[in-house]
Amino acid sequence: MELRGITKRFPGVVANSDINVGVRAGTVHALVGENGAGKSTLMKILYGMQRPDEGTILIDGKEVDFATPADAIEVGIGMVHQHFMLADNFTVLENVVLGNEPKAGVGLDFKTARAKIKDISARYGLGVDPDRLVDELGVGERQRVEILKVLYRGARILILDEPTAVLVPQEVEELFDNLRELKAEGLTLLFISHKLDEVLSVADDITVVRRGTTVASVEPGAVTARQLAELMVGSALPVPELRESTVTTTPVLEVDGIDVTTDDGRTVLQNLSFTIHAGEVLGIAGVEGNGQAELVEALMGIRPVSAGKIKLSGTDITTTSTSKRRDAGMAYIPEDRHRQGVLLESSLWENRILGHQNQAPNVKGPLLDRKGAKADTERIVKEYDVRTPNIDVAVSSLSGGNQQKLIVGREMSGNPVVLLASHPTRGVDVGAQAAIWEHIRRARADKLAVLMISADLDELIGMSDRLSVILRGKLVGEYDPQSVTPEELGSAMTGAGGEEA
Ligand SMILES: Nc1ncnc2c1ncn2[C@@H]1O[C@H](COP(=O)(O)OP(=O)(O)O)[C@@H](O)[C@H]1O
Ligand SMILES: [Mg+2]
Repeated sequence: MELRGITKRFPGVVANSDINVGVRAGTVHALVGENGAGKSTLMKILYGMQRPDEGTILIDGKEVDFATPADAIEVGIGMVHQHFMLADNFTVLENVVLGNEPKAGVGLDFKTARAKIKDISARYGLGVDPDRLVDELGVGERQRVEILKVLYRGARILILDEPTAVLVPQEVEELFDNLRELKAEGLTLLFISHKLDEVLSVADDITVVRRGTTVASVEPGAVTARQLAELMVGSALPVPELRESTVTTTPVLEVDGIDVTTDDGRTVLQNLSFTIHAGEVLGIAGVEGNGQAELVEALMGIRPVSAGKIKLSGTDITTTSTSKRRDAGMAYIPEDRHRQGVLLESSLWENRILGHQNQAPNVKGPLLDRKGAKADTERIVKEYDVRTPNIDVAVSSLSGGNQQKLIVGREMSGNPVVLLASHPTRGVDVGAQAAIWEHIRRARADKLAVLMISADLDELIGMSDRLSVILRGKLVGEYDPQSVTPEELGSAMTGAGGEEA
């Protein structure tokens, strides 16, 4: 399939401008670009839902012109929409057959249809049961029904518009297995995403769209996620760096030989010790699930320690409550913002108070100070560029990146002495990422002690004064961020570094 010079204008917007894409048969071709780049518009053109103002589409070298999706289906193009279009109160069979009768005019031949669905399902490993009610299906299963529906109609080219946006990681893996299966059976897949790790893992070719036009066409083996991100945004990404050292000799957070167990009694942290000084960032790298989450919870007082001591500014806080720790100057950017960071159904300003209900400007004497809290929320919205219509809307209406900015803004308020930052910039756009780094740098210059945990090794290396790796609940090795490479950290993280003695 080839797209040549596709242009599509809407009043006031050029959604597509001279788009050129070549898709090889039997491959997974990824189309990446930021929100609003024009990806969905292009896919709708390709599926006959919209007509281009200029340009041509060629299938197998022949020019096609689609007036409706039926025309696209006719030549073998199928679309799995971003939002599913299944009727909940009907069975899979009914949904697949609807508007697509096997024997037109003679009534619906459900028997043949059922057999065909079972056949397609088995052939591509989709695990779809024709007689289940759609209402009973999970999101991943619904998506497989959508895919099956498209295959049922004889598609050879499948368009998937942000199929992973609605899936949890486990389901994403399953979907990718399905896509590989489809490819192995000779189908051609056009896959849209703005999650670069996913794209790099599943695509054979990648086309980058920026502001409505195709700017690059690359192979996954030849680019890093970072380079791809730079192509998407069209400028060099902000670089995580600390610049001059501000490390002092004053210990702020002292962790001395702590043991921590999981809810089911397994030991996750064993005899863990470290000290973070005022003005210092200690970075901890590690594969998820090696005790990072439990460490932060123990430091925050959410999870008890079974041995050892924790001191904050010289005071033993080993058994102090979370809220007292907060009052003593501990701040916390949690790993899972939905479970621990925000109350989704509460407003921005109510979330500003969360965890800070004893602190100015949220209280005046013993009373809650709504006005103070609201004024400070306005400040955070402005300083951290939280995109929201106002501070009264529910946090659930914000994008993930904007929720994160609100959390970071809240946690950095009130001059904390220690910041526990788990993935502080995960899921935020590059502008916000640069802003969050700058706020951390400034607070560090102002004597903040920071524990940073991140899956982004560039972030860790750039933003740490000292680096350690956590492996199976132990800190293994210390690294100088000035000289360590992501590869060295990576091998230490998997235990291949030989440091675990
Ligand atoms: N039907 C439409 N009418 C007017 N503007 C539209 C329409 N569809 C998309 N746009 C605009 O075109 C641009 C590209 O949108 P879209 O193709 O949905 O981007 P993406 O899928 O990459 O996020 C956006 O600015 C969007 O607002
Ligand atoms: Mg889109």
